[in-house]
Amino acid sequence: MVEFTLPKKSRVKKGKSWPSPEGKRLKEFKIYRWSPDDYKNPQVDTYSVDLDKCGPMVLDAIIKIKNEQDPTLTFRRSCREGICGSCAMNIDGTNTLACTKAIDEIKGAVKIYPLPHMPVVKDLVPDLTHFYAQHRSIEPWLKTETPEPEREWLQSPEDRELLDGLYECVLCACCSTSCPSYWWNGDRYLGPAILQQAYRWLIDSRDEATGERLDNLEDPFRLYRCHTILNCTKACPKDLNPARSIAQVKKMLVERQV
Ligand code: SF4
Ligand code: SF4
Ligand code: FES
Repeated sequence: MVEFTLPKKSRVKKGKSWPSPEGKRLKEFKIYRWSPDDYKNPQVDTYSVDLDKCGPMVLDAIIKIKNEQDPTLTFRRSCREGICGSCAMNIDGTNTLACTKAIDEIKGAVKIYPLPHMPVVKDLVPDLTHFYAQHRSIEPWLKTETPEPEREWLQSPEDRELLDGLYECVLCACCSTSCPSYWWNGDRYLGPAILQQAYRWLIDSRDEATGERLDNLEDPFRLYRCHTILNCTKACPKDLNPARSIAQVKKMLVERQV
Protein backbone atom coordinates (compact mmCIF):
# COMPACT_ATOMS: atom_id res chain seq x y z
CA MET A 1 0.00 0.00 0.00
CA VAL A 2 1.25 3.46 -0.84
CA GLU A 3 2.06 5.57 2.22
CA PHE A 4 2.02 9.31 2.12
CA THR A 5 4.09 11.51 4.40
CA LEU A 6 2.62 14.93 4.89
CA PRO A 7 5.04 17.80 4.36
CA LYS A 8 6.23 19.15 7.73
CA LYS A 9 4.60 22.53 7.19
CA SER A 10 1.17 20.97 6.61
CA ARG A 11 0.84 19.62 10.17
CA VAL A 12 -1.57 21.56 12.34
CA LYS A 13 -0.15 22.00 15.84
CA LYS A 14 -1.80 22.61 19.18
CA GLY A 15 -1.63 26.34 19.70
CA LYS A 16 -1.97 28.81 22.47
CA SER A 17 -4.70 28.83 25.14
CA TRP A 18 -5.68 32.45 25.63
CA PRO A 19 -6.51 33.69 29.17
CA SER A 20 -10.14 33.03 29.97
CA PRO A 21 -12.42 35.95 30.92
CA GLU A 22 -14.61 35.84 34.06
CA GLY A 23 -18.12 34.51 33.50
CA LYS A 24 -20.72 31.86 34.28
CA ARG A 25 -21.46 30.68 30.73
CA LEU A 26 -18.01 30.23 29.22
CA LYS A 27 -17.75 28.56 25.82
CA GLU A 28 -14.51 27.42 24.19
CA PHE A 29 -13.62 28.30 20.62
CA LYS A 30 -10.81 26.39 18.93
CA ILE A 31 -9.70 28.41 15.93
CA TYR A 32 -7.25 27.65 13.12
CA ARG A 33 -4.42 30.16 12.94
CA TRP A 34 -1.82 30.55 10.22
CA SER A 35 0.10 33.53 8.97
CA PRO A 36 2.31 33.70 5.88
CA ASP A 37 4.58 36.11 7.78
CA ASP A 38 6.05 33.92 10.52
CA TYR A 39 7.09 30.72 8.65
CA LYS A 40 5.44 28.52 11.32
CA ASN A 41 3.08 25.57 10.99
CA PRO A 42 -0.62 26.26 11.33
CA GLN A 43 -1.96 25.89 14.87
CA VAL A 44 -5.28 25.78 16.67
CA ASP A 45 -5.66 28.42 19.39
CA THR A 46 -8.22 28.14 22.19
CA TYR A 47 -10.25 31.13 23.37
CA SER A 48 -13.10 31.33 25.89
CA VAL A 49 -16.10 33.61 25.53
CA ASP A 50 -18.76 34.43 28.11
CA LEU A 51 -22.00 33.74 26.23
CA ASP A 52 -23.93 36.03 28.61
CA LYS A 53 -21.96 38.94 27.14
CA CYS A 54 -21.97 37.83 23.51
CA GLY A 55 -24.45 37.83 20.60
CA PRO A 56 -25.98 34.50 19.57
CA MET A 57 -24.03 33.74 16.39
CA VAL A 58 -20.53 32.34 15.83
CA LEU A 59 -19.61 35.57 14.03
CA ASP A 60 -20.57 37.56 17.16
CA ALA A 61 -18.13 35.42 19.17
CA ILE A 62 -15.19 35.77 16.80
CA ILE A 63 -15.74 39.53 16.52
CA LYS A 64 -15.74 39.65 20.33
CA ILE A 65 -12.52 37.62 20.48
CA LYS A 66 -10.90 39.95 17.95
CA ASN A 67 -12.09 43.08 19.78
CA GLU A 68 -11.31 41.98 23.32
CA GLN A 69 -8.62 39.27 23.25
CA ASP A 70 -6.67 38.88 20.04
CA PRO A 71 -6.70 41.65 17.41
CA THR A 72 -4.56 39.54 15.08
CA LEU A 73 -7.35 36.98 14.48
CA THR A 74 -8.22 37.38 10.80
CA PHE A 75 -11.51 36.60 9.03
CA ARG A 76 -13.83 38.16 6.46
CA ARG A 77 -17.28 39.49 7.23
CA SER A 78 -19.50 42.30 6.11
CA CYS A 79 -23.31 42.15 6.27
CA ARG A 80 -23.92 39.98 9.38
CA GLU A 81 -27.20 38.98 7.71
CA GLY A 82 -26.28 36.00 5.49
CA ILE A 83 -26.40 38.05 2.29
CA CYS A 84 -22.82 38.97 1.40
CA GLY A 85 -21.35 35.46 1.67
CA SER A 86 -18.04 36.71 3.00
CA CYS A 87 -18.02 34.98 6.42
CA ALA A 88 -18.06 31.42 5.00
CA MET A 89 -15.89 29.07 7.04
CA ASN A 90 -15.88 25.51 8.36
CA ILE A 91 -17.63 25.46 11.74
CA ASP A 92 -18.04 22.25 13.72
CA GLY A 93 -17.12 20.24 10.62
CA THR A 94 -19.56 21.93 8.24
CA ASN A 95 -19.07 24.70 5.72
CA THR A 96 -21.43 27.50 6.62
CA LEU A 97 -21.85 31.23 7.24
CA ALA A 98 -20.58 32.33 10.65
CA CYS A 99 -23.23 35.05 10.88
CA THR A 100 -26.17 32.65 10.55
CA LYS A 101 -24.74 29.78 12.60
CA ALA A 102 -26.05 29.90 16.18
CA ILE A 103 -23.51 29.10 18.90
CA ASP A 104 -26.04 27.12 20.91
CA GLU A 105 -26.49 24.65 18.02
CA ILE A 106 -22.96 23.41 18.76
CA LYS A 107 -22.19 20.99 21.58
CA GLY A 108 -18.81 21.35 23.30
CA ALA A 109 -16.03 23.52 21.95
CA VAL A 110 -16.72 25.36 18.68
CA LYS A 111 -14.09 24.29 16.14
CA ILE A 112 -13.48 26.79 13.36
CA TYR A 113 -11.33 26.26 10.26
CA PRO A 114 -11.11 28.02 6.90
CA LEU A 115 -13.12 26.58 3.97
CA PRO A 116 -11.41 23.28 3.10
CA HIS A 117 -9.09 22.61 0.18
CA MET A 118 -8.49 26.25 -0.65
CA PRO A 119 -5.21 28.11 -0.28
CA VAL A 120 -5.24 30.22 2.88
CA VAL A 121 -4.36 33.91 2.86
CA LYS A 122 -4.32 34.10 6.66
CA ASP A 123 -6.21 32.35 9.52
CA LEU A 124 -9.83 31.94 8.35
CA VAL A 125 -9.45 33.79 5.04
CA PRO A 126 -9.36 31.52 1.98
CA ASP A 127 -7.89 32.71 -1.31
CA LEU A 128 -10.88 32.91 -3.66
CA THR A 129 -9.00 34.34 -6.66
CA HIS A 130 -9.43 31.20 -8.76
CA PHE A 131 -13.08 30.81 -7.69
CA TYR A 132 -13.86 34.36 -8.86
CA ALA A 133 -11.93 33.84 -12.11
CA GLN A 134 -14.08 30.76 -12.73
CA HIS A 135 -17.18 32.86 -12.05
CA ARG A 136 -16.04 35.43 -14.59
CA SER A 137 -15.41 32.67 -17.13
CA ILE A 138 -19.13 31.87 -17.36
CA GLU A 139 -19.85 35.54 -18.23
CA PRO A 140 -22.39 36.18 -15.48
CA TRP A 141 -24.24 39.00 -17.15
CA LEU A 142 -27.14 39.40 -19.57
CA LYS A 143 -26.04 38.81 -23.19
CA THR A 144 -28.44 39.95 -25.90
CA GLU A 145 -28.59 40.55 -29.66
CA THR A 146 -31.89 42.42 -29.62
CA PRO A 147 -31.43 46.19 -29.32
CA GLU A 148 -31.86 47.27 -25.71
CA PRO A 149 -35.38 48.42 -24.80
CA GLU A 150 -35.83 52.00 -23.67
CA ARG A 151 -37.08 50.74 -20.33
CA GLU A 152 -36.12 47.62 -18.36
CA TRP A 153 -36.18 44.14 -19.92
CA LEU A 154 -39.55 42.71 -18.92
CA GLN A 155 -40.24 39.10 -17.92
CA SER A 156 -43.51 37.27 -17.41
CA PRO A 157 -44.13 36.21 -13.78
CA GLU A 158 -43.61 32.57 -14.90
CA ASP A 159 -40.21 33.35 -16.47
CA ARG A 160 -39.19 35.33 -13.42
CA GLU A 161 -40.17 32.42 -11.19
CA LEU A 162 -37.60 30.22 -12.94
CA LEU A 163 -34.88 32.27 -11.25
CA ASP A 164 -36.16 31.46 -7.76
CA GLY A 165 -33.72 29.24 -5.91
CA LEU A 166 -30.88 30.62 -8.06
CA TYR A 167 -30.73 34.39 -7.61
CA GLU A 168 -30.44 33.94 -3.84
CA CYS A 169 -26.92 32.49 -4.16
CA VAL A 170 -24.44 34.65 -2.26
CA LEU A 171 -21.34 33.04 -3.84
CA CYS A 172 -20.03 32.00 -0.45
CA ALA A 173 -18.29 28.90 -1.91
CA CYS A 174 -19.56 26.62 0.91
CA CYS A 175 -20.87 24.20 -1.73
CA SER A 176 -17.81 24.13 -4.00
CA THR A 177 -15.44 23.62 -1.09
CA SER A 178 -17.50 20.67 0.16
CA CYS A 179 -17.42 18.94 -3.25
CA PRO A 180 -14.83 16.13 -3.56
CA SER A 181 -14.67 16.61 -7.33
CA TYR A 182 -13.83 20.27 -6.81
CA TRP A 183 -11.18 19.38 -4.21
CA TRP A 184 -9.29 17.20 -6.68
CA ASN A 185 -10.03 18.92 -10.00
CA GLY A 186 -10.84 22.49 -8.99
CA ASP A 187 -8.24 23.79 -11.44
CA ARG A 188 -10.50 22.74 -14.32
CA TYR A 189 -13.86 21.68 -12.86
CA LEU A 190 -16.09 24.72 -12.33
CA GLY A 191 -17.75 23.32 -9.20
CA PRO A 192 -21.34 23.64 -7.98
CA ALA A 193 -21.44 27.35 -7.13
CA ILE A 194 -20.22 28.46 -10.56
CA LEU A 195 -22.26 25.87 -12.46
CA GLN A 196 -25.36 27.03 -10.62
CA GLN A 197 -24.57 30.59 -11.72
CA ALA A 198 -24.14 29.32 -15.28
CA TYR A 199 -27.59 27.73 -15.10
CA ARG A 200 -29.06 30.96 -13.73
CA TRP A 201 -28.06 32.73 -16.97
CA LEU A 202 -29.02 29.79 -19.19
CA ILE A 203 -32.64 29.87 -18.06
CA ASP A 204 -33.02 33.64 -17.94
CA SER A 205 -35.73 34.33 -20.54
CA ARG A 206 -34.04 37.62 -21.49
CA ASP A 207 -30.65 36.11 -22.30
CA GLU A 208 -29.88 35.34 -25.96
CA ALA A 209 -26.56 33.51 -25.66
CA THR A 210 -27.86 30.07 -24.64
CA GLY A 211 -26.04 28.14 -27.41
CA GLU A 212 -22.74 29.90 -26.75
CA ARG A 213 -23.10 29.35 -23.00
CA LEU A 214 -23.80 25.63 -23.48
CA ASP A 215 -20.78 25.30 -25.84
CA ASN A 216 -18.63 26.82 -23.13
CA LEU A 217 -19.81 24.23 -20.58
CA GLU A 218 -19.70 21.12 -22.78
CA ASP A 219 -16.38 19.86 -21.53
CA PRO A 220 -15.32 16.71 -19.65
CA PHE A 221 -13.78 18.80 -16.88
CA ARG A 222 -15.69 22.08 -16.65
CA LEU A 223 -19.06 20.33 -16.20
CA TYR A 224 -18.82 16.56 -16.27
CA ARG A 225 -16.60 16.18 -13.20
CA CYS A 226 -19.83 16.38 -11.20
CA HIS A 227 -20.61 12.83 -10.08
CA THR A 228 -23.84 13.72 -8.27
CA ILE A 229 -22.40 13.14 -4.79
CA LEU A 230 -24.74 15.89 -3.46
CA ASN A 231 -22.42 17.27 -0.75
CA CYS A 232 -22.97 20.67 -2.35
CA THR A 233 -26.70 20.79 -1.77
CA LYS A 234 -26.29 19.57 1.79
CA ALA A 235 -23.72 22.28 2.49
CA CYS A 236 -25.58 25.31 1.11
CA PRO A 237 -26.42 27.67 4.01
CA LYS A 238 -29.08 29.33 1.84
CA ASP A 239 -30.92 26.03 1.26
CA LEU A 240 -30.31 26.13 -2.48
CA ASN A 241 -29.85 23.06 -4.65
CA PRO A 242 -26.76 23.41 -6.86
CA ALA A 243 -26.76 19.66 -7.66
CA ARG A 244 -30.18 20.09 -9.26
CA SER A 245 -28.93 23.08 -11.28
CA ILE A 246 -26.02 20.99 -12.58
CA ALA A 247 -28.41 18.19 -13.54
CA GLN A 248 -30.53 20.77 -15.41
CA VAL A 249 -27.49 21.99 -17.37
CA LYS A 250 -26.64 18.40 -18.34
CA LYS A 251 -30.27 17.90 -19.41
CA MET A 252 -30.16 21.03 -21.59
CA LEU A 253 -27.03 19.67 -23.29
CA VAL A 254 -28.72 16.32 -24.00
CA GLU A 255 -31.91 18.01 -25.24
CA ARG A 256 -30.13 20.21 -27.74
CA GLN A 257 -28.70 17.11 -29.43
CA VAL A 258 -32.13 15.59 -30.03
S1 SF4 B 1 -23.33 16.83 -6.85
FE1 SF4 B 1 -21.44 16.13 -5.87
S2 SF4 B 1 -19.90 16.16 -7.47
FE2 SF4 B 1 -21.63 17.36 -8.17
S3 SF4 B 1 -21.10 19.41 -7.55
FE3 SF4 B 1 -22.36 18.55 -5.90
S4 SF4 B 1 -20.90 17.69 -4.45
FE4 SF4 B 1 -19.79 18.06 -6.36
S1 SF4 C 1 -25.17 27.70 -3.91
FE1 SF4 C 1 -25.29 28.05 -1.71
S2 SF4 C 1 -23.36 27.28 -0.90
FE2 SF4 C 1 -23.09 27.53 -3.08
S3 SF4 C 1 -22.19 29.55 -3.30
FE3 SF4 C 1 -24.41 29.77 -3.53
S4 SF4 C 1 -25.16 30.26 -1.50
FE4 SF4 C 1 -23.09 29.48 -1.24
S1 FES D 1 -21.20 38.50 7.09
FE1 FES D 1 -22.30 38.52 5.21
S2 FES D 1 -22.93 36.48 4.98
FE2 FES D 1 -21.99 36.49 6.94
